Amino acid sequence: MKKQSKLPIYSGAPPEKVAADLEPLVDFQKEGISLKTLSRLIEERLLPHLMRYDRPEFHSMFNFFPEEGAEFGANIALLYNQGVTNWQVSPGGAMLEELCGRALCQLFGLFPGSDATFMYSGTYANQEALYLALHWKAEKEGFDFSRKGLKGFPDPARLAVIASRDAHFSLKHAVRILGLGEESLVTLDVDKNRRIDASLMEQKLSELRRKRDVFCAVATAGTTSTGSVDPIPPLAEACNKLGAWLHVDGAYGLAYSLVPEWKPLFTGLELADSVSWDPHKQFGVPIPSSLLFVRRREDFERMALYGDYFNPEGQGEPNPGLKSPPSTRPFSALPLVTSLRYQGLKKVVERLRLPLDAIQTLAEKLKEEEDIELCHQPDTGILCFRIVPQGFPEDNLSHLQKKIYEKIMAEGKRTISMTKLDDKTVLRLVAVSPSVTADSILETISCVRRLAVEYQT
Ligand SMILES: Cc1ncc(COP(=O)(O)O)c(C=O)c1O
Repeated sequence: MKKQSKLPIYSGAPPEKVAADLEPLVDFQKEGISLKTLSRLIEERLLPHLMRYDRPEFHSMFNFFPEEGAEFGANIALLYNQGVTNWQVSPGGAMLEELCGRALCQLFGLFPGSDATFMYSGTYANQEALYLALHWKAEKEGFDFSRKGLKGFPDPARLAVIASRDAHFSLKHAVRILGLGEESLVTLDVDKNRRIDASLMEQKLSELRRKRDVFCAVATAGTTSTGSVDPIPPLAEACNKLGAWLHVDGAYGLAYSLVPEWKPLFTGLELADSVSWDPHKQFGVPIPSSLLFVRRREDFERMALYGDYFNPEGQGEPNPGLKSPPSTRPFSALPLVTSLRYQGLKKVVERLRLPLDAIQTLAEKLKEEEDIELCHQPDTGILCFRIVPQGFPEDNLSHLQKKIYEKIMAEGKRTISMTKLDDKTVLRLVAVSPSVTADSILETISCVRRLAVEYQT
């Protein structure tokens, strides 16, 4: 298949046009077609509508193009054992997952004796973390949560999780699915850089203490909207006082703790009871590749479910399926291992640093610009801003940002995203790939300015 280098970043076509183009692909017929014909069909009908993550103009989300070493491992997994359900189906896969998890615990400087499990996504990693936290709480109250569930607690309505107001919505999913309901998620205010404001937290917690029983606090190490890293030590201290579990959601941000200049932001990581991480966000490994780390290896025993034919009790071999729910599980460890070995940690860190530097440089440049309002000082690789043309009415600014976002996406030359911070609609630039440079993002800013002028004329 031809390389797409001359094509736009994507077609920019509306859903009706994309559907019409794709229709022939799902015309399932009695007879098959040759791979050559299939190739042409895909090239003409599908590829124009796929997004080019490798381009310097891709500034919208956490998607990544394949890293060479990762691709190598992914192909081997596909060819041999793409599933590592347990020892019976892939002894090498099960053991590599085990060893890789432990090596990563060391790499991130987690607590000695910590352990990891591979997951399908950050969403599920967060969910399992909250389950473990609840289980732990139940143990302290003298019952087995896996048997009794929520009804074991004298008043389940008191149970609460605290997290930043900017925490990822997967926490809402988690409390819903655990039967706690969204009301159990109590949000903490953020400071001007959108990190949990530790000075306001104390007051909030003392108000909360009378009414609620906080069993888990979540620090987001790299929020989805702004990439802000919540301060871990004050949350760890609050957990100590409350007798609560500390979870760090590092789905997006944890990778940046490997970059020496960024490491101080992650101080206190070793205090966490659990940490989630998504290598599929900026490592160039195939989706899914997520991990949940726990502080004590035994923590995973709370997840174990034995089956007579499948995971019988008392077997000594490593069995990934005893640490997290899926029984059919992808061999996500292999592409991660081959990628890290192929590049070496030095190159990994260099690649992670490039988009971070690009966003820092951009923020410095934009600080002085009168028509740009920066919404925060960036901690990692995300910058949110508003274009604020001189004299433009405040109450129409959100509409302006939205229209600019829509136009940029429809042009198909570059991408940007949009989010809401408090009640303001803002534009969001994300740099995850090493091919994104400050200049490529500045071109997006020029484009925003051009569209703001067009909007007003
Ligand atoms: C901070 C954070 N947590 C959790 C998630 C969920 O991860 P996943 O998309 O892998 O389910 C995301 C996704 O962007 C995220 O940014």
